[in-house]
Parts: sequence; structure tokens; C-alpha cells
Amino acid sequence: MEKDLLSIKNLNKEDILSLIDRAIELKKQARKVNKVLTGYSLGLIFEKASTRTRVSFETAMFRLGGQTIFLSSSDMQIARGETVADTARVLSRYLDGLVVRTYSQDLVEEMAQYSAIPIINGLTDLYHPCQILSDLMTIREKIDSLEDMKVAWIGDGNNMANSWINAANILGFELVLACPEGYQPDSGIMKGSSHNIKVVLDPKEAAYGADAINTDVWYSMGDEGQEADRKDAFQSYQVNQDVVDAASKDVLIMHCLPVHRDEEISAGVIDGPNSIVFDQAENKMHLHMSVLEKLLLDR
Ligand code: CP
Ligand code: NVA
Repeated sequence: MEKDLLSIKNLNKEDILSLIDRAIELKKQARKVNKVLTGYSLGLIFEKASTRTRVSFETAMFRLGGQTIFLSSSDMQIARGETVADTARVLSRYLDGLVVRTYSQDLVEEMAQYSAIPIINGLTDLYHPCQILSDLMTIREKIDSLEDMKVAWIGDGNNMANSWINAANILGFELVLACPEGYQPDSGIMKGSSHNIKVVLDPKEAAYGADAINTDVWYSMGDEGQEADRKDAFQSYQVNQDVVDAASKDVLIMHCLPVHRDEEISAGVIDGPNSIVFDQAENKMHLHMSVLEKLLLDR
């Protein structure tokens, strides 16, 4: 694997399966894992809010014997004009790895270019690689094969939709995204995508026969001020029982959280028997342990 985890685009099938299977092994070991990162420090620079990603990375590092330093970007000199390059070079002298949550994918790419330590994308406007890996791990626990399945994405063509497209390109499963006009996935990411990936307008067409249905909020961090327009555009894109009925009987209901119940998904569906959203949330911690072992120890 490369030094950084900026998206999953640069991973191959074997990299993904090995990260996931190691995470499943670590999950079984619970608190008895080897403290292989004793003496290691992980920084977290967060420019956007987070509950799961922050806490699961901090706990993952702690379980592996290392420590974390949480850095709110507004408290750093970067907020007063210090360059990304200098920040990356300086932090590389103290830390063994850095998780960055920010708006621009270019910023994490620049950080990676100038740092000597692994940079992990903790979410940008374009991608959420750690989340897609945790989500794939959660599916693998339930239905094992990540190749012979149909996944539906219903809602906004956002950072999570883009990450699902990356995953389907690498693993080859069928992915059908139902997104309203004007909110379809990034055209650059769709360009060159394989024939197993399709964008449609009708949520039921996407859900038809699906093994997993995914959705996400109608307005992501950074979309502030667009709430009213987006609510209008997404009205007929709610994942509700009607949509679920089009899918396979045991369909997995997925959401990276946080959720707005009765907007993008009905409360009955997200809190219903097929929902695996809290497994997805838990698995972020195990998957992050696997990523940290791989990136920090392999250097
Ligand atoms: N799913 C996810 O990334 O959650 P947080 O925004 O709480 O980190
Ligand atoms: N698409 C959401 C995901 C949050 C984890 C956002 O970017 O806000």
C-alpha cells in the first residue's frame, strides 16, 4: 500500500480485503490486541465536526498502545496563514501519522505531498475512504462476498456516493445510484467507471433486488444554506418501506450516520430489523485499528 490513505482509488482488491479481514480479526480480540503502536503518536486535524471518526480513531490508537493529539484547525497557525506544506513538514517531525478532516481534497493531497508520515483522509467534500472501508467490512461480516452483490445508493451524489463508486470500480459489484437531477455524483469520478455502475432517477429502480441500500443526509457539512432547495429536490428520494419492499428480502439497510430521521430515511426503516447502522459505526474503530497498524507499522 502507498504511504497515505487519501481515497480508496489507489487500493486494489487484495489491499481492501486484507484491511477488512484484519479488522474482523482485531474485533474478535477486543481489548486483548497487541499494543504494537506503543510509543507512537497520531495527530487529528479536524476542520469539520465529528463524533464517530474522531472517537473511533482515538480509541483505536489507544487500544493499540499509542496516543493521539486532537488539533482543531482553528487553534493552529494554519488558521493564521502558515502554509499547508510547512505544517506538514513540522508535524512530520513529531508525529507518526495524521488524520485530516477538511473540505478540500486538494488540501489532504498537498499535506501528503509534503509530509514524511502517513496522511489519512478522515473525510473531505469528495471522499470518505475510512467510512467506505468500514461499510464494506460490515457487509463482509453479514454476507461475506463483496463481489456478487447489488448495492443501491439513494439520495445525494456526495462524498459517500463517490466512495461507493470507487469501491464498485475496484471490487466489481453492481452499484445503482438514484440521485435527483443536479445532485448526481461527480462527473470526473463517473468518467471511466466500469459497466457495473449506473446512475438512475428512480429510487425503486436502484433498490430493485438490492442486497444493501445506502443513503446519507440530504445536506452534508459544507452545504449550509442550501437546506430548503435540497429538501425540495430530495422529497421523493426517502428510503422508506415502499422502497425497501423493492429490494431483496434480507436487504441490509445502511447509513454512515449522523441521520436525519424521516428525511433521507424513515424512522421505521433505520430503526427496523434490517438496519446495520450501529454495526457500521462500531466497525469504524476496528477498521481504523487495521489501517493504523498497516500504515504506521509498515513504514
Ligand atoms: N460517519 C462519520 O464519519 O461520522 P462522524 O461525522 O460523526 O465522524
Ligand atoms: N456526507 C456527510 C457524511 C458525514 C459523515 C457529510 O459530508 O457531512
